[in-house]
Amino acid sequence: MNPKRIIIDTDPGVDDALTFLLALASPEIQLEALTTVSGNIGIEKTTRNALAVLELAHASHIPVARGCALPLVSPLHKSGEAVHGSSGIGKAVLPEPKSQPIDQHAIDYLIERILAEPQEITLFTIGPMTNLALAIRKEPRIVPALKELVMMGGAIRSGGNATPLAEFNIHADPHAAHIVFHSGIPITLIPLDATYKCLLTTADVERLNRIDSPIARFVRDATAVYMDFYKKYEGFDGCALHDPLTLAVILAPELFTFEDQHVDVDISGGVSNGNTFADFMKVSKRPANMKVALDVRGRDFIELFIERMESLSRKI
Ligand code: BDR
Ligand code: CA
Repeated sequence: MNPKRIIIDTDPGVDDALTFLLALASPEIQLEALTTVSGNIGIEKTTRNALAVLELAHASHIPVARGCALPLVSPLHKSGEAVHGSSGIGKAVLPEPKSQPIDQHAIDYLIERILAEPQEITLFTIGPMTNLALAIRKEPRIVPALKELVMMGGAIRSGGNATPLAEFNIHADPHAAHIVFHSGIPITLIPLDATYKCLLTTADVERLNRIDSPIARFVRDATAVYMDFYKKYEGFDGCALHDPLTLAVILAPELFTFEDQHVDVDISGGVSNGNTFADFMKVSKRPANMKVALDVRGRDFIELFIERMESLSRKI
């Protein structure tokens, strides 16, 4: 089977960076481009990190298009540094990238790529959805042209991680999420309900580091701050692989329990701003607008992730 052609819209971010590595380690996937957005940290650093991680993995031929610096309406989130470190990639230190972002804004790049090859590109959003929302508003013809959208975001039955009621990617730009949820694009949602079951532990990182490789060391150094955060605030040894789990939709869809649901997002600006809620009781009578991963065999995914990182580490 031909590899699935994907573009990742991202705010790297520790788990974002691990997502690129997993894509590059997977023959089932052809990573066509990265588009960046501010989220975990500002746009300068997310763009720099995207370029630097591609260089680390000998993949700087993959284009990076820089996107939006600010959410549509909300002020910029400031909480990402506590989780991802001030650089956005934990304790990892990567050289200043030699490559540059392309000369086109992420919004225009997405529009051009999606319209050029209708039904060919699957988009993965693993940060706030500002770029995609503006691309839909600028060129609505991308809606029927996009093959599928897989997004990491939301908390359906789970509590939130940005506020008690909202997940970070949605809370960081709830208005963008609102536009995307109601766009008509076929969506697969990977919310915290599934991602919190995928915990990479210090023992996993040590196992990977039996291989002497810059990739294995990057995974160890990048996850260090992330793991400290989880230990301090959530009380467990390890960190959730939120963003990498999106790729399991291609790599191992059988791990998920999906439900078709109508999901909406609160943009009223109150205490539940950014909350994502499914109409489980069908009271709105609206048809499902997405497929939601409500559960996953988390440990099986972590094993898959480590095996792929081991094979990449043996090559680089
Ligand atoms: C999401 O928020 C970010 O901090 C992570 O990179 C992930 O995309 C998890 O809620
Ligand atoms: Ca992210």
